[in-house]
Amino acid sequence: MKVAIGSDHAGYEMKELVKKHLKEKNVDVIDLGTNSNESVDYPEFGKKVGETVVKDKYDFGIVICGTGIGISIAANKVKGVRAALVHDTETAKLAREHNNANVLAFGGRNTKPEMALDIVDTFMDSKFEERHQKRLDLIDEMENENE
Ligand code: RB5
Repeated sequence: MKVAIGSDHAGYEMKELVKKHLKEKNVDVIDLGTNSNESVDYPEFGKKVGETVVKDKYDFGIVICGTGIGISIAANKVKGVRAALVHDTETAKLAREHNNANVLAFGGRNTKPEMALDIVDTFMDSKFEERHQKRLDLIDEMENENE
């Protein structure tokens, strides 16, 4: 499994923790930055992760900022990205099962480290339920209309 991960400064420490966790699980992880606590702008990292997932055919992306809000909005601007902002294992599971989310977003400042790792594991272990495909097709249509 190939996962692309990125964060801003507010998600940096959480990104490092998640990256270590994924490596321990033998997941192939590409880290697209940021690489320190120094202030940066989250859209750059949402875009990089989104583009890597779509263009380089990664299985998933993970994006982290302070709340997860800004970086999920940014990632969702990349065509083909379905980024879900998740707060617990239930929303992580449903993001895959109902929404076929291909990017997981959460907050580095408002998610406890243990919960974050549970969220990541649950997201990766959950499978899309095909019965929801029609709604995703409607979202794709919207994306194509806006081109
Ligand atoms: C950075 O201070 C913060 O605004 C950012 O990490 C994020 O929470 C935005 O949505």
